Amino acid sequence: MHSLPALFRLDGKIALVTGGARNLGYDMADALAEAGAAVIVTSRTLASAQKAAESLREKHHGETLAIELDQREHSRVAAAVAAAMTWKGRIDILVNNAGGGSGQTPALLFQRDPADVVDMVQSNLLGVLHCCQEVGRIMAKQGSGKIINIASVAGLVGRDRRIYEKNDMKGQPIDYAAAKAGVIGLTRDLAGLLSPLGVHVNAISPGGFARGNLPEGFVCDYGERTPLGRMGRDGVDLKGAVLFLAAPASDYVTGQNLVVDGGFSIWR
Ligand SMILES: NC(=O)c1ccc[n+]([C@@H]2O[C@H](COP(=O)([O-])OP(=O)(O)OC[C@H]3O[C@@H](n4cnc5c(N)ncnc54)[C@H](O)[C@@H]3O)[C@@H](O)[C@H]2O)c1
Repeated sequence: MHSLPALFRLDGKIALVTGGARNLGYDMADALAEAGAAVIVTSRTLASAQKAAESLREKHHGETLAIELDQREHSRVAAAVAAAMTWKGRIDILVNNAGGGSGQTPALLFQRDPADVVDMVQSNLLGVLHCCQEVGRIMAKQGSGKIINIASVAGLVGRDRRIYEKNDMKGQPIDYAAAKAGVIGLTRDLAGLLSPLGVHVNAISPGGFARGNLPEGFVCDYGERTPLGRMGRDGVDLKGAVLFLAAPASDYVTGQNLVVDGGFSIWR
């Protein structure tokens, strides 16, 4: 029962991963599916969610479901969660991954359109809160569940904007940091609220992950500012953290923020 492999298995569990169609969301859905969970993938575009769900099904031979979700509106979240519940009648794991910091809009505060600020906070903070409310309600009724909120080092430390300027990049808006700090705060307080009901709530704060669209100079500069000497790797570096927080291995862990940043946030 408590063998090490069993502590990291998710057989029979139902997991919902928001924004799970690509990049970190897909990696985490992939890890949960490999550990035996049936996985619901949401995306703002149904076709993307379907493609990801199909790819996970082929890879792991488990059950998957695709649902369309833009989490900015509470009513859409409620509808998506209701659709998820019609599948298996329960949700054991929620990974609140949907969101993101960089877009096409100007990032510097004084040039930023207030409408973009509202959109950022809606996507990255209110959307997470809506999902916590709707899925948390279900988990509380079940008397069990694990909520994992994806925050960021941006919610923990300020940013050295010189490496963005040097590499001709827009950088990250202040409102992204505000939203992610909000996610870390709500994680702690929600953990307090839901612990007596058997529901665990934790956050993961990734550091920067290397992507093909990032200038080489930036990847290099970011790595130099990171104790472990590099940016995060897609397909690898977030999988262990999410599996730990989703699995029985973390049954005595709640209200925590697991920082997966190669040490970025410890160097000032
Ligand atoms: N990539 C990084 O370096 C990094 C670092 C720290 C934290 N994060 C966080 O990790 C998570 C995933 O990041 P990623 O790099 O894979 O991002 P990504 O942009 O590749 O994917 C984010 C996903 O969220 C979805 N999404 C965005 N806004 C949404 C909304 N309003 N409603 C529903 N879905 C929405 C997108 O469609 C996409 O599928 C995000 O929360 C991001 O803030 C990323």
